[in-house]
Amino acid sequence: MKKIAVLTGVTSGFGINWIEQISDIENYKIYVLARSQKKMDELLENSSLKNIEFIKCNLDSKVSIDNTIELLKEKVDRIDLLVNNAGLFLQEYTQNTDGIELMYFVNYLAPLLLTKGLSPLLVASGGARVVNTSSFQHLNVKKSQFTPATVNNFNALEVYRESKLFITMLTKQLANEYSDKLITVNCYDPGMVNTSMTKNVMDGYAVLRFLYPLLGKLIRTPAKGAETGVYLSTSSEIKNVTGHYFKDKKTKSFNKIVGNEIYNDLLIKRTNEVLSSLN
Ligand SMILES: NC(=O)c1ccc[n+]([C@@H]2O[C@H](COP(=O)([O-])OP(=O)(O)OC[C@H]3O[C@@H](n4cnc5c(N)ncnc54)[C@H](OP(=O)(O)O)[C@@H]3O)[C@@H](O)[C@H]2O)c1
Repeated sequence: MKKIAVLTGVTSGFGINWIEQISDIENYKIYVLARSQKKMDELLENSSLKNIEFIKCNLDSKVSIDNTIELLKEKVDRIDLLVNNAGLFLQEYTQNTDGIELMYFVNYLAPLLLTKGLSPLLVASGGARVVNTSSFQHLNVKKSQFTPATVNNFNALEVYRESKLFITMLTKQLANEYSDKLITVNCYDPGMVNTSMTKNVMDGYAVLRFLYPLLGKLIRTPAKGAETGVYLSTSSEIKNVTGHYFKDKKTKSFNKIVGNEIYNDLLIKRTNEVLSSLN
């Protein structure tokens, strides 16, 4: 029987390498949630990948995510692997249609809404894995208000780092919540990978822009960037491991904020306030 995988964030960057690598290991039916069918078609044009179905989903709105969840519930009776890899870095303050800062929404709220909405299908797998893409940048958050940024206090790098702290905290929270439901939830850092996002981050800072061409071997290829996510998706070594942060296929320490109960409660409280403001 084919395993059923649902992935976001594969239409650029290292996501397509992730699909290629898991497909070499196991036989999957893969659902790609993305906003551009054209990009997906172009990626698959010269590829031998099979069993991939595109579902249009813009992860910047709850309505689009809710519609996708309903569609998936009609299409499949279980999900064995959910990959929350989509992410974005924006130099400028940008809101979604609900008035919420976009990096906070796409990098943190979207994985939360998608995972919770799909949880009945994950439970039905009887051994599902959720893999969230975090970042080494989450380690750089010293303190946070746990709320979406506003136009008045926007600092692009800080907001991006916070969003990655939140998805790391979410990983641990969901791992606890699903511990008796045979769902594991882990996150990881892919390292610095040669993708449009890295270039976009560096373009915004004069020093980094200068350094970009010099990075050479320090920056990973997309194929290398995908490796730890693939490991978390498929390896039998970590079948029962849940609630951890990985780098290079090894568990690493979280930012101390992640393990702090007071901050976790605060994130849940603030997140619920934001969610209750959505339609
Ligand atoms: N690159 C690095 O060095 C690095 C380091 C640490 C962590 N990460 C994380 O790794 C993940 C992948 O990053 P990457 O470097 O491969 O970046 P990327 O090349 O910019 O790819 C990002 C992916 O997310 C998708 N996405 C963004 N906003 C979306 C939305 N509103 N709805 C649906 N899909 C959306 C993009 O879709 P489109 O193709 O439609 O734009 C794209 O497929 C991200 O979570 C990122 O934060 C990257």
